[in-house]
Amino acid sequence: MKILVNDGISASGIEALEKAGFEVINTKVAQEQLENYINDKGIDAVIVRSNTQIRQELIEACPSIKLIGRAGVGMDNIDVEYAIDNGVHVVNTQEASALSVAELVFAHLFGMVRFLHQSNREMPLEGDMSFNTLKKQFSQGTELRGKTLGIVGFGSIGQEVAKMAIALGMKVIATDTDVQEATITIPFFDGQSVNFSVETQPFNDVVSKADFITLHLPAQDEYVITATEFDKMKDGIGIVNTSRGSVLNEVDLVNAIESGKVKYAGLDVFENQPTPEIQLLMNPEISMTPHIGASTIEAQERIGVELANKIIKLLSE
Ligand code: MLT
Repeated sequence: MKILVNDGISASGIEALEKAGFEVINTKVAQEQLENYINDKGIDAVIVRSNTQIRQELIEACPSIKLIGRAGVGMDNIDVEYAIDNGVHVVNTQEASALSVAELVFAHLFGMVRFLHQSNREMPLEGDMSFNTLKKQFSQGTELRGKTLGIVGFGSIGQEVAKMAIALGMKVIATDTDVQEATITIPFFDGQSVNFSVETQPFNDVVSKADFITLHLPAQDEYVITATEFDKMKDGIGIVNTSRGSVLNEVDLVNAIESGKVKYAGLDVFENQPTPEIQLLMNPEISMTPHIGASTIEAQERIGVELANKIIKLLSE
């Protein structure tokens, strides 16, 4: 069976698939050439990340496809329901990247509260001429310990964030439409661990009580955070979005930054990916990364192996 790996997976994932007897074609086929390529080569399974779109028309036009593998969590680039209704397996990796995303949340949080994103822009330009001015400019940082972190979306990534926040001494409050309660186990280096039970709360309570908010939701048809929600938040709120751009109204975010409602903002995802709005890119108040939440060597390793094992199981049945 032939598997097209269109957005890349780890070498160990490819190795596992080849060992199981699959022919792996690890190449990038442009979106508009995918249909011809899949049909010409008789591809049985396609593995994608978020770049390649697997829409109904493509699935319909490529009857050889038996499986679509998503190396990651979000499935917004795949017409999952149509695929499943038409007998095509769709698999993703739910937990493999949770730790990496959670660490990126804290990279933004720690960076934001000490203005690293601004300092890193200004030090190369003015660090020698205006050192003391910059020192003064960035001397009003804050600490995370003791602050309340509101987690919107309490699945595996949200829970991983909770783990780190609790370990850091933050108070955690969370909201989720499906999860009522979760046991957060914090493991220590010496084998000990501590359990915390976190009961989720209504969305509005979390949004209004938090000092910092982090978003962990799938792609949405309607924004979850708009001017209305910003109005409910504490003044000087910090917000991080590492989930999907469609969750947060970026125009409302910029307005909320300008009004002083939002003091810190960290974005890993954007409404217009891969061409985020210039108003965001040029905004010195925002800590930004180019959708790298799951992009660590360790996470990609776990994702590749987990996906390969799921594919081997499903296509060997
Ligand atoms: C995911 O959904 O797994 C992450 O956002 C990473 C990605 O899309 O590449």
